[in-house]
Amino acid sequence: MQLKHLGSSSILLPEVGLGTSGFTGTEDTLRLAVENGASLIDTAEIYGTEELVGKAVRPVRDRVFIATKVAPRNFRRRDLIAAAENSLRRLGVNHIDLYQLHWPNYTVPIEESIGTMEDLVAAGKVRFVGVSNFSAEELRRAQSATSKIRIVSNQVRYSLIDRTAENELLDYCRVHNVTIIAYSPLGKGLPEIRACDPEKALDQLTRRSQKTHAQLALNWLIAKDNVIAIPRSSEKKHVLENCGASGWRLSPDEYSLLDSKIRFKQRSRTGLTLRRWKRRVDQSFGRQL
Ligand SMILES: NC(=O)c1ccc[n+]([C@@H]2O[C@H](COP(=O)([O-])OP(=O)(O)OC[C@H]3O[C@@H](n4cnc5c(N)ncnc54)[C@H](OP(=O)(O)O)[C@@H]3O)[C@@H](O)[C@H]2O)c1
Repeated sequence: MQLKHLGSSSILLPEVGLGTSGFTGTEDTLRLAVENGASLIDTAEIYGTEELVGKAVRPVRDRVFIATKVAPRNFRRRDLIAAAENSLRRLGVNHIDLYQLHWPNYTVPIEESIGTMEDLVAAGKVRFVGVSNFSAEELRRAQSATSKIRIVSNQVRYSLIDRTAENELLDYCRVHNVTIIAYSPLGKGLPEIRACDPEKALDQLTRRSQKTHAQLALNWLIAKDNVIAIPRSSEKKHVLENCGASGWRLSPDEYSLLDSKIRFKQRSRTGLTLRRWKRRVDQSFGRQL
């Protein structure tokens, strides 16, 4: 498993981890991922998997990097501290390795949430702070809200078939040493990716390289310097396969074949602004995660 620095920190993370939203596997499946190098495990207070993750990794805690997230409804100082304590309890650990703001909350000043994160770091309850689903501008504001800690990561949807992150965010994060943690890196399931491959580029590459479709799709993502991926799999066979997406690189020709032949979605700036505006309205009426 190839490793990459987390932001500008000295911590090295595997370029393929394991996501647990909708995870229906067992503790053994989670430990298998760790044993095979996928030692970054991503969860969230809203996934309902923190307890399982905590139990599974207890025997190997020192080898696992646990990333969890606080939901936007808990971004006020008092709620954020309580949410962190609850996650620590469910995980059964004394610190969270990476604590992420799950989505922007437009009704709470970012300074309040980031200031609380600073205190959680100072108290030793959180090692690193990240965000998720933040635009480049939202990330810039979060960074400006602190001089004490660094925002080391932004977890966003990114795959061969959704390349919205390439609009602006990917470059911004590269320049500012922020790791992109690519979620839904298999497009939520391989049939989705295959449906966007009318010329069967994946089949061509599988014949040439003996790599599977999942490995090719993940390798295309992690070929970028500051990108790591967290595919979710509840199947041991798939977990092992996904770990095998690291440790090699597509040739430039193979990379451009995927780049050019797979159809992808890239939301426009206007589309993104509209979605954020809708979220802002929902949040101001108390309709939020
Ligand atoms: N921050 C956020 O807002 C956010 C939002 C969504 C997701 N996430 C995170 O990102 C993680 C992954 O995203 P996701 O669950 O949406 O989608 P995903 O990882 O793109 O796709 C998951 C699907 O792919 C299948 N799969 C995995 N490996 C496979 C393989 N080698 N061959 C064939 N099928 C394979 C899984 O089925 P099997 O289980 O059968 O293998 C599952 O149906 C989540 O679990 C979560 O941790 C974060």
